[in-house]
Amino acid sequence: MGRLTGLVALVTGAGGGELGGGGAGIARALAQEGAVVAVNDLAEEYAQATVEQITGQGGTAFVLAGDVSDPRRAQEMIETVVERYGRLDILVNNAARLGRSPAVERMSDEEWHSYIAVNLSGPFFMSRAALPHMMRQQYGRIVNIGSLAALRASLNGGAGYTASKRGLLGLTRQLAAEFYAYNITVNAVLPAGILSGRMRAEMGERAEALVAARRWALPDDIGKICAYLASPEAHLISAAVIVVPGANATGLGDFAQYRAMARQIGKDIGE
Ligand SMILES: NC(=O)c1ccc[n+]([C@@H]2O[C@H](COP(=O)([O-])OP(=O)(O)OC[C@H]3O[C@@H](n4cnc5c(N)ncnc54)[C@H](O)[C@@H]3O)[C@@H](O)[C@H]2O)c1
Repeated sequence: MGRLTGLVALVTGAGGGELGGGGAGIARALAQEGAVVAVNDLAEEYAQATVEQITGQGGTAFVLAGDVSDPRRAQEMIETVVERYGRLDILVNNAARLGRSPAVERMSDEEWHSYIAVNLSGPFFMSRAALPHMMRQQYGRIVNIGSLAALRASLNGGAGYTASKRGLLGLTRQLAAEFYAYNITVNAVLPAGILSGRMRAEMGERAEALVAARRWALPDDIGKICAYLASPEAHLISAAVIVVPGANATGLGDFAQYRAMARQIGKDIGE
C-alpha cells in the first residue's frame, strides 16, 4: 500500500517517459505511491510514453491529451477523469511554456501572452474545474510547479516566464486561503534546475557530477516532494513555497552575477 492508494491524480505536461522532465517524474512518483494517474501533455504519443513506463512498472495510468491553456479543454479533461474514476484528488499543474525568450524590448505581444496563457491561465483553468469535485470529496491536493525565477529572475525564459511563475505564487496563496476549510491544500514547488532524462543521457558524466553535488534535481526528486504534498498526511501544509534543490535557493539574487551568467550562456539581455 502506497501513501496515495485509492487516490486519483492528474499531472499536466507529464509526457516523455524515461526521457521526459519534471512532469514525467511527478507522474511516476504518484503512481509508485499507488495513485491512478491521468498523464496530460499536448501530444498523445508523448503522454503515452509516460503511461507505458508507469504501467510497465505495475502502476495505473492513462493518456489525457490536451492544451491546459484552453478553458473548454481544461474543463473536459477534469470531467473525463471524474467520469472514469468517480473522483479527482490530486492536480499537479506542471505544464509550462519553456525555452529562451528575447529581452523585453524585443518581446512580441504574442510571446508575452503565450507565457501567461500556459503558465498562469492553465493552472487557473485546471484548478477551477477540479475544485468543485475536491470540495464535494472534502479532499483535494493541488501542487503548482513554479520556478525559482518567481523569487529571483529567469536566466533563460525572461519577463514572460518570470511574471507568469510569480503570478502562480499569487494563485497558490489565494486558492490555499479560499479552500483550506474543505481539506484542500494548495502548495508551490519551485524547481531551480531539473535534469530531464534526455539531458542526463546527453550530458553523461557532467550530469552525474551535478546530481552528486545536489545542485540539480532529478525529475523523480520533484515527484517525491509532490507525492508527499499530495498525501493525506500533509493535510496541514498549505501555501508553502518549496525551492528544489535548496542549494540554489539564493541563486540569481545578485543582479551583477545575473548579467555575467546571462552573458556566459549567450542570453539576450538587451544591450
Ligand atoms: N527544467 C528546469 O530546469 C526547470 C527550472 C525551473 C522550473 N521548472 C518548471 O518545472 C516544470 C517542469 O519543467 P521541465 O523542464 O522538467 O519540463 P517537462 O518535461 O515537465 O515539460 C513540460 C511539458 O509541458 C508540456 N506543455 C507545454 N504547453 C502545454 C500546454 N499548453 N498544455 C499541456 N501541456 C503543455 C510540454 O509538451 C512538456 O512536455 C515546469 O513547470 C517548469 O517551468 C523547470
